[in-house]
Amino acid sequence: MKALELNDTMIIAKGGERTCYAHPKDVKKVIKIVHTLNIHNKQNELEYSYMNYLVNKNTDLSALTKCYGYISTNKGKGLIFDRVLDFDGSASKSFRYMLAKQLIPLEEQKILINDLKIYLEKNNVLFVDTSLTNIFCPRISENVYRLIIVDGLGAKRLGLKFFLYKLSKTYTKYKIKRQWQKFMQMYKKDLKRVALGERPFTRL
Ligand SMILES: Nc1ncnc2c1ncn2[C@@H]1O[C@H](COP(=O)(O)OP(=O)(O)O)[C@@H](O)[C@H]1O
Ligand SMILES: [Mg+2]
Repeated sequence: MKALELNDTMIIAKGGERTCYAHPKDVKKVIKIVHTLNIHNKQNELEYSYMNYLVNKNTDLSALTKCYGYISTNKGKGLIFDRVLDFDGSASKSFRYMLAKQLIPLEEQKILINDLKIYLEKNNVLFVDTSLTNIFCPRISENVYRLIIVDGLGAKRLGLKFFLYKLSKTYTKYKIKRQWQKFMQMYKKDLKRVALGERPFTRL
């Protein structure tokens, strides 16, 4: 089959490892392609494996973006996911963006964060790369928001730990708690930064 043509106008954002393109044939999907040339953590392979693992366990995926497998493109092999969109179809922003621009009251942020924590614990989902840009904050109606994790699931690399998490529920539960603490540290640090209003955020 002919490779799908992607170009730079379709780029939504670039992460540390992958470029995220808007799917040219489906407005509700994105295609992620590894852009780091040499050593990389195989983020696509890892997420593909982890998402399949969750699907096989009948996990509730409502706070994640569903994965639809690989597609060959002119930029290389890409992995397809749902695109996070607002209720009116416009592109959603990251949680970090909402926080930096003070678009959601603190009280509501607390509720959203707590809902996400409950989701991760209840469904045993590992969110390890707890950057606030890996969480999106779609508007699901006029003044209602949700949190959706778009990246950083499973493990940081395809190694022994990733294998062990899948075997041991206890280990997974422990790791979920540890990573949540890390997330909260990052969140509080960002809140302080907003309150001080000194250094503007560069990555949103
Ligand atoms: N499903 C998605 N819907 C909308 N935007 C996304 C989605 N996934 C990623 N993005 C955007 O693309 C950026 C890079 O994707 P990401 O998966 O985080 O790559 P990396 O693994 O390199 O960090 C994200 O920070 C986000 O801004
Ligand atoms: Mg990322």
